[in-house]
Amino acid sequence: MSADSKDKTVRGVAMEGKGISQAVIGRLPRYFRYLGELKDEGVERISSQDLSGLMQVTASQIRQDFNNFGGFGQQGYGYNVEYLYEEIGRILGLDKQHHLIIIGAGNLGQALANYMDFEKRGFIMRGIFDINPALIGRKVRAMTVESMELLERRIRENEIDIAVLTVPKGSAVGVADRLVACGIRAIWNFAHVDLDVPEGVQVENVHLLDSLMKLSYNISCCEER
Ligand code: NAI
Repeated sequence: MSADSKDKTVRGVAMEGKGISQAVIGRLPRYFRYLGELKDEGVERISSQDLSGLMQVTASQIRQDFNNFGGFGQQGYGYNVEYLYEEIGRILGLDKQHHLIIIGAGNLGQALANYMDFEKRGFIMRGIFDINPALIGRKVRAMTVESMELLERRIRENEIDIAVLTVPKGSAVGVADRLVACGIRAIWNFAHVDLDVPEGVQVENVHLLDSLMKLSYNISCCEER
């Protein structure tokens, strides 16, 4: 079983109890983003029709998705934007802070560490680690790259719940095992390798190239037409 499918199964089981499918969960961040923008623009109410036009999702899909959580709206009255934004944020666990560390302070690790918007959503970067002596001690934004020797201690001290894995493929499995042994509950995995983690540990694989390949397919299709 690939890490992707295993990941979905594990979370699927967790979500089944709440009766929410992964497909619905996968759409929530986009609803959250659009509602945040509407809220910032001072919009107080929106109908599923208007939200549908904005997001290019059918109104019935929106209603079905929201019905999983009790509906959020009143017939003919539309959705209260602020309430819906807060509720979806709560469902996504964004009402609490999450503490993150980055393992691998190379190009990608440093780029992620420098991206400020994670913090606005409650994802607080608490450390960045590497094995390269040339990087250890270097400043990346407000953090100093630390040796992997300090990993376990820092995870304990800073109550880390999410580890960002930006090490080469060959190191990723060993590092992931070490993270799991420290009690890390979630790994945001950028390394192109499937991780075999115990039940209860969540892995979210990110592959930018997959998205680029989708784009390539779509333009190739258009050329053929
Ligand atoms: P990089 O070579 O610039 O950085 C990797 C860093 O990991 C280095 O600083 C290295 O010293 C460190 N490292 C190696 N073994 C380690 C270990 N056991 N513990 C701690 N640190 C260790 O590479 P880059 O470009 O930052 O890419 C990082 C990873 O992310 C690679 O696996 C790459 O394939 C992947 N990647 C994934 C993308 C995606 O969309 N999923 C996009 C770009 C890169």
